Amino acid sequence: MILSIVNNKGGVGKTTSAVSLAAAFAATKRRTLLIDLDAQGSASLSLGIARADLSPSSAEVILEGLPIASAIRPSLVEHLAILPGGMTLASADLALSDVKGRETVLKAALGPIRSAYDLVILDCPPSLGLLTVNALTASDFFIIPLTPDYLALEGLVNLMEAVERIRAGIGKVAELLGILLTLCDYRLNATNEIIAMIRGHYGRKVFKTEIRGSVRLKEAPSFGKTIFDFAPHSSGADGYSKLAKEILKAI
Ligand SMILES: Nc1ncnc2c1ncn2[C@@H]1O[C@H](COP(=O)(O)OP(=O)(O)OP(=O)(O)O)[C@@H](O)[C@H]1O
Ligand SMILES: [Mg+2]
Repeated sequence: MILSIVNNKGGVGKTTSAVSLAAAFAATKRRTLLIDLDAQGSASLSLGIARADLSPSSAEVILEGLPIASAIRPSLVEHLAILPGGMTLASADLALSDVKGRETVLKAALGPIRSAYDLVILDCPPSLGLLTVNALTASDFFIIPLTPDYLALEGLVNLMEAVERIRAGIGKVAELLGILLTLCDYRLNATNEIIAMIRGHYGRKVFKTEIRGSVRLKEAPSFGKTIFDFAPHSSGADGYSKLAKEILKAI
């Protein structure tokens, strides 16, 4: 199964969710591949890859036709492989603009290795540009991480409409697997109100599991460790392992 983590809003926990979910799936001994589609390479750095070692990355695969297998490498986490992100992804929209089939480059690149993994997780950049479109056409499902604040709901409506436009234009794209409430701070009254509103509106499309705001989750990337290696007994580790179980039940 191929799963994209998508939201054009920045800083909503896409990368944290992609890395933590990939690690949670790998912990169940499922062969897992994390693909970093962000020019910042945050998911790759979070897994302990040095900035100088990002290349060859998903940029060479998508923009230069490098065979994907030659850019994928093992991570320090057992059963988890990674295709890093790279700086040149920043110019992907321009570089792909004249390419025929520019929306399905990633899907085609994934073909040869699809059967080598049980799960592939794609960490998308905070935009709805061609990289995210490529992720959506290559994936079976997508997850939208969402922070419970007032502007979030409005952004969500726009995002859903954008995905429908992409679907109308391209045909088969990923289905929404669920909305993930992240960075939840229950000390704020507004948090519970907004969560109730989102659940009221989107019902079963919202994952039961909610991810709390957690200092440990924020710290883990700077140590190049997943939350399960950095703080296995934290609320973040518990949250993401529950979410992985919820997803495995749903698919
Ligand atoms: N549950 C959480 N608790 C505390 N901090 C978190 C949590 N989830 C993410 N963060 C922190 O919030 C910041 C943004 O998270 P993250 O990088 O995962 O978001 P993103 O959506 O990938 O951002 P971007 O759009 O820039 O790629 C990071 O500093 C991250 O460590
Ligand atoms: Mg990110």
